[in-house]
Amino acid sequence: MVVNVIDTRRLRLRPFELSDAEAAHGWLGDPLVMQYTPAGVVSGVHKTRERLAEYRAHQATHGFSKWLIADRASGRPIGDAGLLQLPELGWIDLGFRLSPSHWGQGLATEAASAWVSAAFGPLGLARLGAFVHPENAASIRVLEKLGFRSERQDVVMGMRSIVFGLAAADLR
Ligand SMILES: CC(C)(COP(=O)(O)OP(=O)(O)OC[C@H]1O[C@@H](n2cnc3c(N)ncnc32)[C@H](O)[C@@H]1OP(=O)(O)O)[C@@H](O)C(=O)NCCC(=O)NCCS
Repeated sequence: MVVNVIDTRRLRLRPFELSDAEAAHGWLGDPLVMQYTPAGVVSGVHKTRERLAEYRAHQATHGFSKWLIADRASGRPIGDAGLLQLPELGWIDLGFRLSPSHWGQGLATEAASAWVSAAFGPLGLARLGAFVHPENAASIRVLEKLGFRSERQDVVMGMRSIVFGLAAADLR
């Protein structure tokens, strides 16, 4: 089934447009947000636009991707979340990030949980993975709240990581 938009109580998740680059650079260019991301900050708005083009190509190929998170009340972009098939990982990876002014309100859990429901519902996926730097306590907590299980310690994309997994069958 095709999924074009996901609404939650407080959020609207939708595929990126290239015109979102300025807004997305607000978090993709923020060292605090990107401190536990293997490649670190995206180094300029033009690079953010390239990243969004990659997300759009991934959406066209797979029917899912990293999407923009907008606050439903204001319509303002506040972060991104979604699923990427990363060949070097061997799993479909769940990721999420928010601008710091929106941390601590349960919004990452709300967005990520909507993606888990879409993955195991309309998208028909069987399993998701995620990897997190061991010191990224908030992200680890989000994954635990969603039911992800810690599987192993590893180096993923050059970053010391805990690898998590969740199967559709785990939630039944
Ligand atoms: C990780 C991130 C998305 C969390 O967003 P958020 O909206 O604040 O997350 P939530 O409010 O849904 O949940 C965070 C949980 O972590 C807990 N938490 C936050 N900081 C913590 C800390 N330093 N130590 C332990 N727990 C912490 C919160 O209390 C909450 O758990 P609770 O509901 O049991 O109280 C946000 O911090 C972020 O964008 N970080 C930078 C990007 C990033 O690291 N993304 C993940 C890459 S894998």
